[in-house]
Amino acid sequence: MIKRISIGLAILVVLGAVLFFALVWRPTIAPIAPGSVAGFPAELVAKGEALAGAGYCATCHRVKGGQPYAGGYGMPTPFGVIYSTNITPDPDSGIGRWSEAAFMRAMHEGVSRDGSHLYPAFPYDHFTKVTDEDVRALYTFLMTREPVSAPAQQNTLPFPFNIRALQAGWKLLFMDQGSYRPVAGKSEAWNRGAYLAEGLSHCAACHTPRNLLGAEKTADDSYAGAMIEGWFAPALTAANTTPLPGPRMRC
Ligand code: HEC
Ligand code: HEC
Repeated sequence: MIKRISIGLAILVVLGAVLFFALVWRPTIAPIAPGSVAGFPAELVAKGEALAGAGYCATCHRVKGGQPYAGGYGMPTPFGVIYSTNITPDPDSGIGRWSEAAFMRAMHEGVSRDGSHLYPAFPYDHFTKVTDEDVRALYTFLMTREPVSAPAQQNTLPFPFNIRALQAGWKLLFMDQGSYRPVAGKSEAWNRGAYLAEGLSHCAACHTPRNLLGAEKTADDSYAGAMIEGWFAPALTAANTTPLPGPRMRC
């Protein structure tokens, strides 16, 4: 009997370890020497700048009156305050030691360079749709900014939300990882718009209501309008009563 229980337990432990490694564990990506990535073509930097604008990177990664991309903005979520981090190339408090591969993984999988899971307050559930080429341009742009020393702020998430590993489960439930897939039968312009709206510009992050676990609702609720940080982001569907094109386009 005891033997059977111990075999059962051993199997459970092995299964748990396999699940943990497959689902949760992510390797640290080796640091690069600060300043070792340089000589980026000016066109790529300019492209990255335009893309950073379209992704509102500086809107979240900046405090009022602070340096752009230095982070520190506290996002009030129903789970607690999550602070944006420093994405200037400062070697110690920013991403100055991040390789392009580490940056790509953060944007596409929501995993930090050290292998820890990031919170989806960083809208990687949308950024996952951005092509490698566009992520590369963003990396180039950020790595050519002035480094700013700005250590990360402590989030105010209570247990269990402070366990980053739980985000692996969130991703499994709610994140559709992978690049934007063009919809057949739609024009190139339509697909370009959808690529930007659903990916980098993450319109749904504000304009779609969220469920109890903070994930965007789907189907009829997609773009149906939602409250975000005390603001109402109106429906972007036919349910919106604003005449189009209207003078109230403020995004
Ligand atoms: C809606 C707010 C928001 C927007 C927009 C946003 N971010 Fe973030 N970002 C965050 C938050 C919050 C974190 C911290 C998440 C955490 O600690 O788990 C973060 C983390 C990151 C990280 C990981 C840094 C680290 O040290 O682990 C990178 C890289 C990043 N953002 C890049 C970008 C880029 C590039 C853009 C624009 C394309 C962008 N972010 C737009 C909120 C945002
Ligand atoms: C960070 C949150 C956020 C993001 C991201 C965002 N919006 Fe908005 N949007 C808002 C809010 C809040 C309002 C309402 C502003 C107001 O009332 O002045 C708004 C208003 C609008 C309006 C005007 C609607 C009306 O009825 O007056 C349009 C259109 C719009 N957004 C489209 C977009 C598109 C397209 C995107 C993506 C490219 C986008 N938004 C991304 C928060 C956001």
